[in-house]
Amino acid sequence: MQKRTLLQAAAAVALLGASGLGLAQDNVFKIGLVLPMTGQQATTGRQIEAAARLWMAQNGDTVAGKKVQLIVKDDTSLPDQTRRLAQELVVNEKVNVLAGMGITPSALAVAPIATQSKTPLVVMAAATSSITEASPYIVRTSFTLPQVSVAMADWSPKNGIKSVVTLVTDYGPGLDAEKYFSERFLFNGGKVLEKLRVPLRNPDFAPFLQKVRDLKPDALFVFVPSGAGAAVMKQFGERGMDKAGIRLIGTGDVTDDDQLNDMGDVALGVVTSHHYSAFHPSPANKKFVADFMKANKNLRPNFMAMGGYDGMRVIYEALKKTGGKGGGDALVAAMKGQIFESPRGPVFIDAQTRDIVQNVYLRKVEKKDGQLYNVEFDVIKDVKDPGKSKQ
Ligand code: DHB
Repeated sequence: MQKRTLLQAAAAVALLGASGLGLAQDNVFKIGLVLPMTGQQATTGRQIEAAARLWMAQNGDTVAGKKVQLIVKDDTSLPDQTRRLAQELVVNEKVNVLAGMGITPSALAVAPIATQSKTPLVVMAAATSSITEASPYIVRTSFTLPQVSVAMADWSPKNGIKSVVTLVTDYGPGLDAEKYFSERFLFNGGKVLEKLRVPLRNPDFAPFLQKVRDLKPDALFVFVPSGAGAAVMKQFGERGMDKAGIRLIGTGDVTDDDQLNDMGDVALGVVTSHHYSAFHPSPANKKFVADFMKANKNLRPNFMAMGGYDGMRVIYEALKKTGGKGGGDALVAAMKGQIFESPRGPVFIDAQTRDIVQNVYLRKVEKKDGQLYNVEFDVIKDVKDPGKSKQ
């Protein structure tokens, strides 16, 4: 049996050789997925790869008569690596689509390659507002920090929070969160006592949190990238900040579903605003979470997985619509304006900006069946990225 299969394979290779490699290539549709699979942002890569594979397991790997091939590369979240790998994928592998992009510097490093090679770049994680303006070939399925930060600044003053200190990671998404939260909070009559920024690489939150304790704001507003939330929460608890009457608020990156359940009781009651919670009570999400956990040893999907899953859908739909004809330009055109029911809720790819329009939810960490979840209690519908320069 084994022997026969091998013989058949050899025959198939010979046939391919005879019919020319071009034909074989034409029947393959390659997605180059560049992600941080190791290093500080490894959980982002693990979540997105798992979600992309789940999408393919559920929807098959043949679309419009083409065999979809996923090529995963680990950039260790270093933008020079992301650029080098994307270049190789375009030049050597001749990928039809580039995707992934765990952090903003990676997405910005690859944008010129997408433009020059006319390859669609589906950004599944990185969330600085300006990214989609870096190339007309970029389409985003994650979110933007301005999009999710404003809701928190509207909720806080109505709920007893009159003064805040902001604490953000010192790069694109953190600066977006700081700006859009603070401006709206000031507009709503609140006071920002201090704006603190921590480095992206190996952050030590202790000295910053000490400072927050001394300043005694009603709340600390936090943005840290996925994977760093548990460290913030731990130190917040250890320093007795909650007991000192300082509340923790932020974008949902800090109560990341990937880590939330291990954060302990200090996380209880923390209110955040975000576009996705694993606890979102729709049938589509219940199925997504159950299938994801089943395929991944009970790992709970987070918002990164959501961006990867919907990113694959956007690519599949574009391939279906174009039949793979017309190259990158046709694919991007077919990605624009897509509208569908995602496990996170209804979403829309804005044709003008190529950015995602989606619901933003206010959520509070609660214990449900012995597990910690971000439980949604309010929604702002169909939120566009407020960070885009005027078109
Ligand atoms: C980015 C990375 C994250 O992990 C996150 O939660 C939000 C934004 C970024 O680099 O854009």
